[in-house]
Formats: sequence, C-alpha cells, structure tokens
Amino acid sequence: MTDTPRVMILNGPNLGRLGVREPEIYGHASMADLREAADDWGARLGLDVEVRQTDDEAQIVGWLHEAVDSRSHVVLNPAAFTHYSYALRDAAAQVTTSSLLLVEVHLSNPAARESFRHYSVVAGIATGTVAGFGFDSYRLALEAIAHKLSH
Ligand code: DQA
Repeated sequence: MTDTPRVMILNGPNLGRLGVREPEIYGHASMADLREAADDWGARLGLDVEVRQTDDEAQIVGWLHEAVDSRSHVVLNPAAFTHYSYALRDAAAQVTTSSLLLVEVHLSNPAARESFRHYSVVAGIATGTVAGFGFDSYRLALEAIAHKLSH
C-alpha cells in the first residue's frame, strides 16, 4: 500500500483574521473553520492535509522548504505576498521544480479587485490557480491535487 499523499495548506498575512477582516470580501468563517473543513475534505479525498497560517514571510518560505524536504504537495494562499514577494515565489518554485504540486488559491478574485492585486508573482511557477470561490477555492484545489495524483 502506498503512503497517503501529504498536502500543506499554507496561508499568508492577515488570513488569521478571517471572519473578522472585511467579511463582505472574505466571508464570516474563520481559520479554525477552514481547519475543520480541510480535515473533512482531506479524509474524503484520501489526502493527509495540514493547515498553517503566518504573517511572517520568513516563516512561509521555511514551510515551503519543509514541503520540498518532506515531499508534501502545497495549497498556497500567499495573501498580499502574492503581489510582490519574490522570496516567496523562489521558495514556491522549488516545490514545483521538485515534481510536487502547488496550487495557488485566493478566497476573492484578485483580478476583479484593485489593480495592484492583478499581478501574481507566484502564478507563473504554480501548477495552477483557483480564485474567487471563498473556502471552496481550497476544496477545489485539493480536488485538483487528488485528481492529478490519481492519473
Ligand atoms: C487574497 C487576495 C490578496 O490580494 C489579499 O492580499 C489577501 C487575500 C485572497 O484570498 O483573496 O490577503 O489572497
């Protein structure tokens, strides 16, 4: 029997404020609610899922290194780092160049918002992107990973 594939769901700055922060954009559910939902999705899809959040760029870069070293796939909501962090992009590139999957996710649809959100430094090295579906963006990303791993 093969090992259960691992997926780290990594979240960047201000996403720990979910439920409180601009609920008209990001919804009323919290990071704790995402953890609970992700456990269910993981169990259903046969993925070993772990949700983490940090406001610290160095921390998220370190987690991406850990994903490479532990052969874990990644669902990444880089939050505002999406738009300017080349350090994050370079760390995320190590995931996909190691033949691991990395799906960029966003709760909102950045392309439909302020112009500074239209550019993602991560998109070009990601396996794919899901944006605009609230918590379902994460579910769809996990489903895409499970589907790709089974083919
Ligand atoms: C976000 C979109 C980003 O532009 C923003 O900085 C965030 C959240 C999203 O999930 O919609 O913090 O990544």
